[in-house]
Amino acid sequence: MPTKAAKIKRQMLQNVAMHSRSPRIELKPAEHEPLRDALARPLHDLRISLLDRCNFRCPYCMPVSEFHDDYEFLQRSDRLTHAEILTVAKVATGLGVSKLRLTGGEPLLDKKLPELVAGLTALPGVEDLALTTNAMLLAPIAQDLARAGLHRVTISLDSLDEEVFKLMSGGRGDLRRVLDGIAGAEAAGLAPIKINVVVQRGVNEHTVIDLVDYFRGTGHIVRLIEFMDVGNCNGWRMDQVVPSSELLASVQQCWPLRPIGPNYPGEVAQRYHYEDGQGEIGFISSVTAPFCGSCSRARLSADGVLYTCLFATHGTDLREPLRNGADDSELADILSRIWLQRADRYSELRRPDVAEAHPLSKVEMYRIGG
Ligand code: GTP
Ligand code: 5AD
Ligand code: SF4
Ligand code: SF4
Repeated sequence: MPTKAAKIKRQMLQNVAMHSRSPRIELKPAEHEPLRDALARPLHDLRISLLDRCNFRCPYCMPVSEFHDDYEFLQRSDRLTHAEILTVAKVATGLGVSKLRLTGGEPLLDKKLPELVAGLTALPGVEDLALTTNAMLLAPIAQDLARAGLHRVTISLDSLDEEVFKLMSGGRGDLRRVLDGIAGAEAAGLAPIKINVVVQRGVNEHTVIDLVDYFRGTGHIVRLIEFMDVGNCNGWRMDQVVPSSELLASVQQCWPLRPIGPNYPGEVAQRYHYEDGQGEIGFISSVTAPFCGSCSRARLSADGVLYTCLFATHGTDLREPLRNGADDSELADILSRIWLQRADRYSELRRPDVAEAHPLSKVEMYRIGG
């Protein structure tokens, strides 16, 4: 392993050791029965939002009208430190979490990301460590992230049409740099690379087939995502949702597809192989075919609030106990209690007419990642 990466890893291992006060109860991931919520769903994934800032202003996530130059984002002191994030992740893996995803906002705005990655990947029980990014800043740091132990990246890219891309990144994205970012991730072996495409009626639906064609045969997996009513600021309307059934039919018209099973229980994408052997494509249908029944994801916001649903109206603050000296076993108690009581199934209960007319006061997507 190159010296720089070895140094980063050693540093983080020391950090982990320093910040793990001796627990009252022993947390041994492999021996744990999975923690199950009120609907018998195991706690399997933790998605960690590192910061609420982003270098894009995608209108369906952070419309520029609201997230303008004077918008007050979280200050550094409001955000969890890396050591605090590591503590929460360690406690979560102790309770059975084996999959971690780093998100934002845009997680690459965190300049010390490789060090955090090294710390997280070293935690016992972590089988999968992924990053969601818009890839604008990815090319120069992809190798460092891979060396630090990141397994793979998922890239949000809504169109390859310059104008549509500009519009959907709120005028901030540079398509060339995003494609360089994808190439950088490929060169660094951060695979399988997934390309997340949010499809909006009348906005980018006419560019979907070109994008699918571009990535066919590259080994990267395009996932077409139904536009969701997350948060309150994206002006969601049901008539802007392009149902997966419609997208599937369009793709099938060009290239015959064969359904394949999930990679793991609870996978959100319905997967297909191209009959001609040119790879895989996925459809994520949270609006027309919700998947709450197998939802095993908890989400940690940058300021340390734990949410148990993407559409949550409230969460549980972990920052205060973390900063007031709670030890690992106290944190494990808090997390367990939250998960045992959990009964969220927003997407299954959603009535699009009600969601459109009377939206709940929900947490915004940029605060808890995708
Ligand atoms: P993999 O680990 O690669 O399988 O990732 P994933 O399938 O969990 O997908 P990813 O994190 O890339 O999320 C893709 C999209 O799926 C998100 O942008 C959301 O639109 C949607 N999504 C992911 N998780 C949830 C969830 O828990 N609920 C709902 N309603 N949508 C979700
Ligand atoms: N509907 C569906 N997906 C969304 N994302 C952000 N907002 C929405 C929405 N309203 C996706 C992004 C990215 C991930 C972080 O979440 O495209 O892939
Ligand atoms: Fe940023 Fe991703 Fe939200 Fe776009 S969808 S504004 S890239 S966090
Ligand atoms: Fe999970 Fe909530 Fe999404 Fe349902 S709506 S799949 S409970 S995050």
